[in-house]
Amino acid sequence: MKILILNGPNLNLLGKREPAIYGILTFEQFFESLKKKYADVELHYFQSNVEGEIINKLHEVGFSFDGIILNAGAYTHTSIAIGDAIKGIETPVIEVHISNVYAREEFRHVSYIAPNAKGIIAGFGLQSYELALESFI
Ligand code: DQA
Repeated sequence: MKILILNGPNLNLLGKREPAIYGILTFEQFFESLKKKYADVELHYFQSNVEGEIINKLHEVGFSFDGIILNAGAYTHTSIAIGDAIKGIETPVIEVHISNVYAREEFRHVSYIAPNAKGIIAGFGLQSYELALESFI
């Protein structure tokens, strides 16, 4: 099973960025533990702060991978283009968020990913990614 975890803007700063909201672990540390725990899954990881690079990645894997776990960061709330890209590919996408976006500012309650996603997992810290992975498995 081939799964891509795709992280959007500012998620490269995990571990340093607003630790009270996003925790103290870097994504690389978390990803290493995930790979060990799910050794049978072919897990890939890509992060970009650039909207077009996220779209290119969705196109690249979106006809061959079994699942995409997408945390589009703030692009979740703004990007019609990422929403359209998800509509255009075959691989199912699960939208994830570390924080509970619905308990935060109102602008975070809007998602251009959600209408095109298989499901949404938010608010469980980095475990949100693991829950999404479990759901694909
Ligand atoms: C986030 C929530 C977004 O609103 C925010 O812009 C992020 C991270 C989360 O994982 O909780 O960058 O997607």
